[in-house]
Amino acid sequence: MAYYHKLGNIPHKRHTQFRQPDGSLYAEQLVGTLGFSGVSSLLYHINPPTRIARIGEPVPYAPKVAAGIKLAPHHLRTLDVKTTGTDYLSARKTMMLNNDVAISICNPSELEMSYSYKNGQADEVVFVHEGSGVLLSQMGKLEFREGDYIVIPRTIIHQFKFNEGPVRLLVIESFSPIETPRRYRNHFGQLLEHSPFCERDIRAPHELIEFEAGGEHLVQIKKDGMLHQYHYEFSPFDVVGWDGYFYPYAFSIYDFEPITGRVHQPPPVHQNFEAHNFVICSFVPRLFDYHPEAIPAPYNHSNVDSDEVLYYVAGDFMSRKGVDRASFTVHPGGIPHGPHPGTVEASIGKKETHEYAVMIDTFKPLHLTEEAVAYMDKNYPMSWNENHPNPPRSADMFD
Ligand SMILES: [Fe+2]
Repeated sequence: MAYYHKLGNIPHKRHTQFRQPDGSLYAEQLVGTLGFSGVSSLLYHINPPTRIARIGEPVPYAPKVAAGIKLAPHHLRTLDVKTTGTDYLSARKTMMLNNDVAISICNPSELEMSYSYKNGQADEVVFVHEGSGVLLSQMGKLEFREGDYIVIPRTIIHQFKFNEGPVRLLVIESFSPIETPRRYRNHFGQLLEHSPFCERDIRAPHELIEFEAGGEHLVQIKKDGMLHQYHYEFSPFDVVGWDGYFYPYAFSIYDFEPITGRVHQPPPVHQNFEAHNFVICSFVPRLFDYHPEAIPAPYNHSNVDSDEVLYYVAGDFMSRKGVDRASFTVHPGGIPHGPHPGTVEASIGKKETHEYAVMIDTFKPLHLTEEAVAYMDKNYPMSWNENHPNPPRSADMFD
């Protein structure tokens, strides 16, 4: 994160004596990124975070890449999936991934977690498509609601507590730090005036968590395709204070201010976050282009060196027929894509759009998983051809 935040009690000077009521020292912990060169926070624990009671057997937790997928545009429909599992981790189903990012759906039926979780090697961006609740973490409570991106940097121990169902989440794991776009920040890290959002739109944890001493606490740690089972005899939320730049935060897609123009604006105007080799963009309601001859629908384009994933959130999706809320479209680099037949003419004269969508553009090819195949609309690659509304079986992607 690009601004300083603190909660609870911390000593006047870092790395100095800070004592508990019984005279013992609090355990200071630096949590930092990029060696000691990235952002960091200092946490003060009642118990040393190193005091492990036992380590259980790891549980395999790696998606399988599907074999034999043809190079083609893909459409995955997930709206009808009411639940993808019981608890937060078992419900996470990865749809596509590469070495930089993994994209999953997660529709848990259970509203509370009986364990805590941390991702040991990836930042996570959880987009709340449906649901609301509170994220409990070592840094405190963070309320969230529909439309929020919750950015959880790696290694932060946390739990989701949902208020009510149904819960529908889009989870983006990033193997490099998630940041705001560099071109929107000044030399000091502050978001600039031309940025589509500013620090005021970013919500940090606001209250530390009350916890009980003792008890057994399980933390599941995701690393290298496994969930590692760490047991502690104290709450991992035993933090009495912290400060720094490294913490989970929420940003609402409803607070993203669109950038518009006289003619069609390119996708980077929608950019919300960036990481190594991919970006996350927010498409939000906006006025259309105001040149008198403007064509509001996007032009055909070739993603020469990137794969483009759109996750449809709400509204009517101007340039795509047949896609619905919670649909993914995946347009791989190497082949052109563009609006469906009829949508270009139909867009002329339109004044505004009410669509919401999340886009993930990667600079390395994505691989669909075996889970994703179940959601695939096999007619989608031919859906630009008016002569073949229902392509024959032989047109299947897996023949
Ligand atoms: Fe595109």
